[in-house]
Order: sequence, then C-alpha cells, then structure tokens
Amino acid sequence: MSARVDKAVGDAKVERRALITWLWRVPVLATLAGLGWGALEAYHVHFDKVRPEAPNFTPVTPQRVAALTELEQLWSAVSFTLADGSGETPALALQVPEAVMGGVSIDGRHYLAFSRVCTHLGCPVSLNSDLETLAVAFNYRTDRPAIACPCHLSVFSPLEAGRAVSGPAREPLPRVQLEGRGDVLFAVGLERPRS
Ligand code: FES
Repeated sequence: MSARVDKAVGDAKVERRALITWLWRVPVLATLAGLGWGALEAYHVHFDKVRPEAPNFTPVTPQRVAALTELEQLWSAVSFTLADGSGETPALALQVPEAVMGGVSIDGRHYLAFSRVCTHLGCPVSLNSDLETLAVAFNYRTDRPAIACPCHLSVFSPLEAGRAVSGPAREPLPRVQLEGRGDVLFAVGLERPRS
C-alpha cells in the first residue's frame, strides 16, 4: 500500500517537473515567434517591393498641370487634381535631376508626375525634401528627396519611377503621363494601379 502511494507521489513529481519544464519553454517559444514575425516584417518593409515597369498609360482628357516656370527649380513640385472618366485623382508633378521611366524631358529638364494616393491604404502622399526627417521619422536614409506617406510611413522614390522603398506599401505609385505644350505641362494619361 505504502509502495503504491510512494509511486503515485513520485509520478506526480515527475509530471509536475515536466509541466514546469514546458512552462519555461513558453516564453522562449513566444520570443522566437516574435523575432520571426519581426524579421518577416523587416523583410516586407525593406525588400518585398514591386519594381515599376514601362508604363501603360490610359489616355485622359488633356489637362493643364503647370507652367514650366512653376517647376523651374530642381525638385520643385506642384499638386493638381486629375479628372478622368472614373473620378478624380490627386497628383503631384515635379522636376527631377535625371530622365526617369514614365517621365518627360523638355529642353534638358526632366519632369515626372505621380498619383498622390498611397498604394498601401490610400492616404495622400507628399514630396519630402527634408532628408533628416526622412531618416528619423520615416526610417529611410537617402541623399535625394522622396515621396512619403504620413499614415504608416511608406516612402516612394521618384528617381526609381515611384517604387516603394520603405514602409508597408509594396506597389509603386501610379504615374501620370505628362506632355509639354509650349511652356505648359499637360497631363494626358494615367497609369492604373495594379491592384
Ligand atoms: S496609407 Fe500610406 S503607408 Fe499606409
């Protein structure tokens, strides 16, 4: 009888020890899961980005964007609203230092325009020329201005044709097709978002 009791007590001790061993593993497993999730997020934020291709513009009724004199300075920008058959798209035109796929070059100057609708969840993006703010607030270090979204801190590179370079957005910003008519820039087409 006493031997049976001793065995039961022994078994209970073994089970308690096994349980304690497993309880110690829980925080370790939770930490590993957290690290894995963090690594996956870091991969999405920095590397999982779609590269812009040659644009396939849908024509829109030509619309005045700005006089070239309004974009005389490098990295100067103007906002405008592009009306097309399916609604209105807030957009941004800017002068950049080099020719970029989907942009237009006039008299040795290079212009680009993008939709201002963030490809993550649709907040309005803006050109940000404050490199320190991009580095500190947006976690993106660069030596050129970039287009940034204040909602979840996505950053898009104008010189890479609007590619998302940081933050949760994966898709590039849709481009607006520009055309020079005299000394005025017109918007004549819009790249449809892929999703
Ligand atoms: S809506 Fe722009 S980053 Fe989320």
